[in-house]
Amino acid sequence: MTYSPETGATPPPGCPAHTGAGPLPGLAQPRPTPMYGPDFAADPSAVYERLRRYGPTAPVELSPGVHATLVTDYRAALEVLRSPEKFAKDARRWRALADGRVAPDNPVVPMMGYRPNCLFSDGEAHRRLRQAVTDSLGRVDPAALRGYVERSADTLIDRFAPYGEADLLGSYAKVLPLLVFNQLFGCPPALGERLVGAMSAIFDGVDAERANAQATQSFIELIGLKREQPGADVTSWLLAHPANLGDEEMIHQLVVLMGAGTEPQQNLIANALRLLLSDDRFAGDLSGGAMPVEDALDEVLWLDPPMANYGVHYPVHDLDFGGVRLRAGEPVVISYAAANNDPALVSEQRGGNRAHLAWSAGPHTCPAKDSARLIAAVAVEKLLDRVPDLELAVPADRLVWRPGPFHRALTALPARFPPVPAPMPAPVRDQFDETPGDTRWNVRPAQSQSTPPAATSTPRPPESASRGPRRVWSSLTAWWRGR
Ligand code: HEM
Repeated sequence: MTYSPETGATPPPGCPAHTGAGPLPGLAQPRPTPMYGPDFAADPSAVYERLRRYGPTAPVELSPGVHATLVTDYRAALEVLRSPEKFAKDARRWRALADGRVAPDNPVVPMMGYRPNCLFSDGEAHRRLRQAVTDSLGRVDPAALRGYVERSADTLIDRFAPYGEADLLGSYAKVLPLLVFNQLFGCPPALGERLVGAMSAIFDGVDAERANAQATQSFIELIGLKREQPGADVTSWLLAHPANLGDEEMIHQLVVLMGAGTEPQQNLIANALRLLLSDDRFAGDLSGGAMPVEDALDEVLWLDPPMANYGVHYPVHDLDFGGVRLRAGEPVVISYAAANNDPALVSEQRGGNRAHLAWSAGPHTCPAKDSARLIAAVAVEKLLDRVPDLELAVPADRLVWRPGPFHRALTALPARFPPVPAPMPAPVRDQFDETPGDTRWNVRPAQSQSTPPAATSTPRPPESASRGPRRVWSSLTAWWRGR
């Protein structure tokens, strides 16, 4: 039987993970399990397995002193995600933050605190904001997107291919979504670098308050730029949408789009590459010339989803759920990773089965899953095609995962390969200026059904006009090197 979020099919009878009875007999209500620090990052599956003994939900600590209920059971996760009348997304309901038990500078607040965007809103407010996002993303032409990704991939591969070794995370998976985001959102490269640095710090919970301020300032600059000079890009389409978003709403839609469009995207690419390069099932196919990239993506989305635990909801009233009393305003977090690996599902055939929760489900399901999957597939295919004899430079079990309760993210993905000469002389490549609005990138802007047509090319922003290609490249290189 297939477990489909669409049909809500039920698990097999007798599954101990679906008793709905709360802690198993003889087990006391557990102490909250920490989900921060290197131990959780090193082996989250072991933690989920322990937590399952307590039933569909278990108490956890997202960072020191921040308590939540984690849903580890697939069916229970779907129930939360599809019951907005019982479980709200509006983080202003988070009691511990409102009454000061959680400090505003706690590292998880930038990921959980309220922002007036689609992720944290409910009902009519959510419909309005989400419509603006889905309509604007809907104007992206998949063929143009594929082109963006291919060109970005080529550009990055040219930089490291002649050297025979590279960190595929730092030099590729991390930078590629930035380049694609810059193009889709009409963002000049220097601004894009600042933005991704800030968003990455927010995900890591490192100096989060400063990172938050830096991201906000950068978005203000981008919105100002696009109000003055609209282009064929998602930022301009959001501004032109009939929802008539104000500046503050724009900033917060961009925060969620940027956060989702870069960090989980890089992790999907890196986690798929790790699997493809470390698992013999895929190696056999690779040497045979057939690259099972789609299968690898499905497997990562099931086993190691980039957003491992998120979908933070707040019970609207106190309620009994799976034998546990949930209090209004106390965070309930969906473990997409644990739910996907619910023992009730393990016998399922996963290849081609897309019933996983990696994109969430219900009214807040990821509105960009098709684009995100396309970006990851093209990025991985392009790399394997251009650098065919890639191998990991360290054993897969020595790769280190970044701490943090929400993401499943490697710190690095070192690889080696026979050096591949650049396909054209470096000076020619160096002239490839990636200024947003370049007509080579905005090849075929799609027309929205619900928004008026926008200009099809963006005049070059003043800042980038004064930056020669070499300036752009040197700043990108600095980004690659972590400076
Ligand atoms: C591999 C990449 C991606 C993954 C794994 C992913 C996953 C998710 C998940 C799990 C959610 C639900 C959030 C929650 O748990 O509360 C979500 C929501 C969202 N995602 Fe994605 N996403 C990805 C890429 C993208 C991209 C590329 C964009 C846009 C450029 C995007 C835009 C959004 C937005 C706007 C929401 C909020 C929707 C709402 O609340 O109505 N995502 N995504």
